[in-house]
Amino acid sequence: MTKGIKIVTIGGGSSYTPELIEGFIKRYDELPVQELWLVDIEEGKEKLEIIGNLAKRMVQKARIPIDIHLTLDRREALKDADFVTTQFRVGSLDARAKDERIPLKYNVIGQETNGPGGLFKGLRTIPVILDICKDIEELCPDAWLVNFTNPAGMVTEAVLRYSNIKKVVGLCNVPIGMRMGIAKALEVDPSRIHVDFAGLNHMVFGLNVYLDGVSILDSVIDSMADPKNEMTMKNISGLAWEPDFIRALGVIPCGYHRYYYKTGEMLTEELEAAETVGTRAEVVQKLEKDLFELYKNPELDMKPPQLEKRGGAYYSDAACSLINSIYNDKRDIQPVNTRNNGAIASIPADSAVEVNCVITKDGPRPISVGDIPVAARGLVQQIKSFERVAAEAAVTGDYKTALLAMTINPLVPSDKIAKQILDEMLEAHKQHLPQFTQTIKA
Ligand code: G6P
Repeated sequence: MTKGIKIVTIGGGSSYTPELIEGFIKRYDELPVQELWLVDIEEGKEKLEIIGNLAKRMVQKARIPIDIHLTLDRREALKDADFVTTQFRVGSLDARAKDERIPLKYNVIGQETNGPGGLFKGLRTIPVILDICKDIEELCPDAWLVNFTNPAGMVTEAVLRYSNIKKVVGLCNVPIGMRMGIAKALEVDPSRIHVDFAGLNHMVFGLNVYLDGVSILDSVIDSMADPKNEMTMKNISGLAWEPDFIRALGVIPCGYHRYYYKTGEMLTEELEAAETVGTRAEVVQKLEKDLFELYKNPELDMKPPQLEKRGGAYYSDAACSLINSIYNDKRDIQPVNTRNNGAIASIPADSAVEVNCVITKDGPRPISVGDIPVAARGLVQQIKSFERVAAEAAVTGDYKTALLAMTINPLVPSDKIAKQILDEMLEAHKQHLPQFTQTIKA
């Protein structure tokens, strides 16, 4: 009898966790999870209890013998883990609302993982993930770290650059969402669609698309040029692409590219929303309230469809699919964030990229794409520069490095505005930025 698998989820109180439980239940025959530890912090204790009770009801209903453990003690949980998944939001949605609102005061895009919001999500998250990496090194050195804490690409870059953890994979649901969107637009089963993904997290392109192995790139681009096909996710406005632009681009952009190729329109929409329905974080806070009310119901013993209203739908299924393929050495192809190793020519080999990989028991093996087309490559390189400088700022707590990252971000129009936004956001987030305490005092 092989030792059952021990999985630890840090941020276990997340509203996404029921999808993770569902993913393990439906794969149990080939992925025999024995222990699932859901870890959270003091502030998330109530959410953890609610999620933990629902998880227990779900496995009981499925008659699957997974032991669900709940704890606020991360080190207790990590002992001898086989897989560690991380899905936490430092400062929770309140911090995200500030990330989305403050830049708007300067007529700059306010977004969870892009622009100033992405910088500060990284500054808050990276010290915590590196602490977790130290615990993993000590308590479960053979474990795989599967991270889908945002900004997932910058976080993967930071773990590769500033920790000793080599067995790390960054995950996102954007690629799976793009594949599902294409399948829906063509009204075919998603399993018949394959996409050659290449780029960075939230900056990934579909270089080619296949239906039953035959390239359909041009017809997919044509369908994206048609305003009625939004082809986006729940959390990003589906503003229609300019037909001649998208055809000239010649590759499939992801939802987040609208913040770069449609910045003005997206900013107008954000300013309007902030004055009416609220920013995305504020909308999500209401969704979360409804979700947790649902989760509390002792009659509920499955993942409710309402969870599909979140942008992160299919996230956790991607995580379970990845864990399954590593555990069973499936060698199937999945888009994940991993060390580039030359897969994308114009990105440094030691940087994290989001690209199709063969998933083996020794981890992802990136599939070489050659390069991203010239028209799309520059933005990818600029975002990678931003991610690397931002990660350095997160680790060092150096003010000038943080100002450099803010200023070189393509969504920030000038160094003076960068400084104003940086100073206001450092003050607003100071309780979650211990590495900047001296700076903020000064
Ligand atoms: C997308 C992204 C995630 C992001 C999520 C936000 O799915 O891939 O990285 O966190 O949307 O969704 P939300 O419902 O929180 O706005």
